[in-house]
Parts: sequence; structure tokens; C-alpha cells
Amino acid sequence: MQGDVVVHVGAARAEWWRETLSALMPGTPIRLWDDVPDPDAVSAAVVWKHPPGGLRRFANLKVIVSIGAGVDHVFVDPDLPAGVPVLRITGDDLTQRMKEYVVWQVLALHRRGWELAEARAAHQWRQVVTPLAGRRGVGIMGLGRLGAAAAQALAGLGFAVHGWSRSRREIAGVTCHAGEAGLGAFLAASEILVCLLPLTPQTEGILDRALFEKLPKGAAIVNAARGGHLAEADLIPALDAGLLSRAVLDVARVEPLPQNHPFWADARIDITPHIASLIDPETGAGRIAANLRRFFAGEDLPDLVDPARGY
Ligand code: GLV
Repeated sequence: MQGDVVVHVGAARAEWWRETLSALMPGTPIRLWDDVPDPDAVSAAVVWKHPPGGLRRFANLKVIVSIGAGVDHVFVDPDLPAGVPVLRITGDDLTQRMKEYVVWQVLALHRRGWELAEARAAHQWRQVVTPLAGRRGVGIMGLGRLGAAAAQALAGLGFAVHGWSRSRREIAGVTCHAGEAGLGAFLAASEILVCLLPLTPQTEGILDRALFEKLPKGAAIVNAARGGHLAEADLIPALDAGLLSRAVLDVARVEPLPQNHPFWADARIDITPHIASLIDPETGAGRIAANLRRFFAGEDLPDLVDPARGY
């Protein structure tokens, strides 16, 4: 490793990240964003939602590492230093966490867990009968590492799983659809729709009224990708109109979701605070340290992002 590493991450976890990276990269100074003695010495930036333009102060920056599988929060910076490669984090840990989250939410929707909770709260012994998994169509939008793993896990539980991606994929046990041409058939089969797409100009706002209208009436959606995928103003009207019956949101356009946001007051919307696949420094830092070592040794980089595709 040549030079210092600067880290930008939420204050609550910043010191944890610094200590964990320091332990894994002995001899490399790990600096927190607001405590960089010599900006010219910084060669790598490890960031989650850094302030736009903020990377410009590191004149010798060689690589940017996203603390996340998604890199939209990096590319949203209009002042990103040109030509500096961007790496993301992938790995079994992230994939496993996302798989758990998607299976949890899909099962809860499939077995109508909210109705059981309501009955319990009213001291009612109310049996809720649901179809077998094989008669429930679940659609996964985005068949990258996370989407493919979630689709396979759901297929393993017996769900009728459909997947949709930009270019065609083959996944055992999953009916795969591709591109604009395949979207209608995919949506028509998705009683529970899970979004795991990368956020790009093409997927921004994709979860909108026009899309909800193509789902089976009363479908449920799970957004575990990015807040930007959802046309937020379309959600409550779609629930009111019966196009959708429920929504589970792990992400929002503004995070934390503002206190006065109408989603909080709507019992048909479950909200989790961007925890579907939260990277913890213990495993994330291991991946980052290994990637930085590979980068500076000029080795192959499986986590290198294609800036043209945006993921
Ligand atoms: C989290 O949202 C990630 O991109 O890994």
C-alpha cells in the first residue's frame, strides 16, 4: 500500500472502521475524513456518501472504494476526480445478509404476517390461510450477485420465482426474463416484487404507477435496493387504489426517512432502516484491505466498477 487511506462513513461507525482497517493494514495510516494532516499523502478513499466535491482535495488519489455493493452514492458526485477507478464491496457476507432479508420479507408477505400480528394485538385467535409457495409468484428485479442468490433461495423454498435483468441470465429453478421485451411477462407473474437493481439513470424511478399497473392486482413490493428506484409519490395512491396491498421499504430517497414523511403513518408500509445488507467493518474491511492490496500490486480486481454501466 502506498500512501494514506481516508475514510468517510457515518460518525457512529467511523472509529470502528478506522480501527478495523488499521489492524488489517499495518503501516498504512488510516485517516478519518475530518482529520487528514496531509491531503497530498492520501492515495485511497474509502467512502459511503461522501460530500460532493470532497474528493478533489486529495490531489494524488489513485482509487475510490465504495463501502457498499452499490456505487450510485459515489457517482452522484458531479465533481468526482476524473479517471480514478472505483471499487465496490462484494462477498459472501453481503450476499448472505441480503438473502436472509429477502427470504424474511417474502415469507412474511406470503404468510400474511401483518394480519396475524393485528389479530394477536386484538387478542383474536384468527387463522390465516395462504396458498403453498409453489402457487405464489415472486419476482426479483436485478439478477446480479444479490438478486441471483435471493432468487435461488426462494426457489429452494418452492416459490414460483421469476427474475428480470437487463441482459439475459440463466438461473436454475428461476424463470428468467430480460430487457424491455421481457418486462411485461415478468411483472404479470410477480405477486411479490423484490427490487435489487443497481441505481442508474435507466432504473431511477422504475417502481412507479405504470409499473404497479402491470403487476397482479394487490401485489406487494419489497425495495431493498435504493430509495431512488421508487417514485415515492406513486406509492400511497397505488395502495389506496388497490394496485398494491403492501410495501416493504429498506431504503428511502432521503435517509433517515424524515419524521414528517407520510410513509411512517401508513400501516401498509413496513419500513426498515437500510439494514437489509449492512456491511459490518469486521468483514467489509477485510474485503477492502484485500482489494487495496491487489490494486496497488496491479492484480486483477473483481470488484472494479464499470463507470459506463454504473455498477
Ligand atoms: C448497501 O446499501 C450497499 O450498497 O451495500
